[in-house]
Amino acid sequence: MNNKDLYNQSSPSLGGVRGGTIVEVKNLVKKFPVGTGFFTALNGVDLTFTEGEFTGLVGPSGSGKTTLLNIIGSLDTPSEGEVIVLSKSVGTLSAKQAAQLRKEELGFIFQNYNLLPVYTVYENVEFPLLLLNMSSDERKKRVLETLEWVGLSDKVNSRPAQLSGGECQRVAIARAMVKRPVLVLADEPTANLDSVNSHNILKTMLKLNEELKTSFIFATHDEKVIGYLKRIIRLQDGKVVEDSF
Ligand SMILES: Nc1ncnc2c1ncn2[C@@H]1O[C@H](COP(=O)(O)OP(=O)(O)OP(=O)(O)O)[C@@H](O)[C@H]1O
Ligand SMILES: [Mg+2]
Repeated sequence: MNNKDLYNQSSPSLGGVRGGTIVEVKNLVKKFPVGTGFFTALNGVDLTFTEGEFTGLVGPSGSGKTTLLNIIGSLDTPSEGEVIVLSKSVGTLSAKQAAQLRKEELGFIFQNYNLLPVYTVYENVEFPLLLLNMSSDERKKRVLETLEWVGLSDKVNSRPAQLSGGECQRVAIARAMVKRPVLVLADEPTANLDSVNSHNILKTMLKLNEELKTSFIFATHDEKVIGYLKRIIRLQDGKVVEDSF
């Protein structure tokens, strides 16, 4: 693939933030109601993410990784503090505005792939584009190109049950990338993969990060992932205890 062409194809919305801050987390506290009280899952987190990052949130189970990803992904809101994603403060968005931010600017990759089983690979990847205003010719071009990036051009008509775990996760990456998001959020993307597939998935994501400048933030336990990261943020008991580049 031609790096320059890919870069130029990025979402127009990238223009204002390229090279700049994409996410600011300011004194973030997240409390969940438990019984008659609260459990504090995030306890004063301050972080800044800039465009082009390939960052992992690491730390023990229960340390707050998924909670932080969900708030950055506008799937949940802060209890205190502020999280600004692409100049929007997630705590102040209406449900409709949050949905719009997710559908237009963010890509999500989950541990269990979350593919639609009755749809083909092509249809699974096309799905996010159906929510956007895009011609069918443009959709087709985008879907086929994105499947080429992840090495699945020969599986266009397969259904998820006919694919390996690594191939399913590559479909999920294609689905997250097809709209050319500024930021991809991935929660334990290699948790269900063997070693060979994990390395292939990491290499695929790193290639997209470097060639398209798409930013990635992962939550992960996986030692294999950690070797690929450009930045490691370690959480413990809802606090950042290490932030190393
Ligand atoms: N909806 C909720 N209600 C109550 N407590 C919650 C809720 N969601 C998360 N928690 C608690 O917040 C803490 C952080 O959870 P979180 O899922 O962010 O951890 P994690 O670092 O992603 O862990 P893992 O590595 O196991 O995925 C945990 O103790 C969890 O039990
Ligand atoms: Mg988690």
